[in-house]
Amino acid sequence: MKTELLFPTPEALARAGELLRSGEVVGFPTETVYGLGANAMDEAAVEKIFAAKGRPGDNPLIVHIADADGLAPLIASEPDPHARALMDAFWPGPLTLIFPKSAAVPARVTAGLDTVAIRMPSHPVAQALIRAAGVPVAAPSANRSGRPSPTTAADVLEDMDGRVPMILDGGPCRVGVESTVVDLSGEAPRVLRPGGITRAQIEAVASACEIDHAVLNPLGEGERPRSPGMKYKHYAPRGEVTVFCGENTVKNIIRRYDATPNALILALEGNLPFYGKRRCISLGSDAESMAANLFHALREADRLGADVILCEGVEPVGVGLAVMNRLFRAAAFRVVE
Ligand code: TXA
Ligand code: MG
Repeated sequence: MKTELLFPTPEALARAGELLRSGEVVGFPTETVYGLGANAMDEAAVEKIFAAKGRPGDNPLIVHIADADGLAPLIASEPDPHARALMDAFWPGPLTLIFPKSAAVPARVTAGLDTVAIRMPSHPVAQALIRAAGVPVAAPSANRSGRPSPTTAADVLEDMDGRVPMILDGGPCRVGVESTVVDLSGEAPRVLRPGGITRAQIEAVASACEIDHAVLNPLGEGERPRSPGMKYKHYAPRGEVTVFCGENTVKNIIRRYDATPNALILALEGNLPFYGKRRCISLGSDAESMAANLFHALREADRLGADVILCEGVEPVGVGLAVMNRLFRAAAFRVVE
């Protein structure tokens, strides 16, 4: 299959909507990362997403809607006040909520679960595409399974060339890490995957917010994750990643770099001078820019052919929690304190 890379002109959006309606898969930008979309109500179309990504069949997809009217057909009952408050505060935006699913949502989308994850993206191209399609759009991140999520159209093409008919190029993603996935089945909202909406933002609306143990810790032997995605190897480039934390970060990275052939350092802009002539990629100046740059930097490390990637950590607060969640997984929990 030939893959077309198009800017989101009205004509391109109309054709992309037509492709989705006819059961095809389209790569498209959101404010978090690029997604690989298909008609969520069409099992055969959804199947093509799993095939294009090489995604395990027991990992459910997020269904994307353009407006509040899109929600009712997908869920089993009216959203409760908790859900309402979060939707009012953060939709459209990088927040995914888990609801009991309606019978209309195919089991393939939810991997057989009786819940469905729903998100209303704010990116104008994502909004326009869902409207053009006229159907809810199931969309995981547009990477081959296990690879870093794509934050530019070129990243999507790198993984999906020849596997999907069309990719819409909306430029680099603003947030850079995926949406925050929140489970509403307990007393307080529980973050299963941290992302663009922070714990503090949720607490401002919901008074309490729990962070699932698996966010910053490896799953224990035989432990069942609340979110199936948490059990897979994730976000990993070909090079071996190690994360460095604490006050000796720079010293420890320099020691490791100097003892390791073909290493590469991912560092905060302000620390670059400490590394001198050693090979570095800047992650920007703070947790927000780290989030925006991280996945692209991990892909860049592969393009440079680095065997070993030594990455500075960040305080796991605000969007820094999402950064550390992704980094720990990319590093398979190789952490030096
Ligand atoms: O920002 C995002 O959320 C991006 C863009 C494209 O919207 N999408 C995304 O999808 O990150 P994906 O498939 O890469 O990650 C979805 C996560 C997985 O960890 C999955 O296990 C979890 O959401 N998930 C989906 N449905 C679920 C459900 N019913 N219950 C618990 N977790 C669920
Ligand atoms: Mg993903």
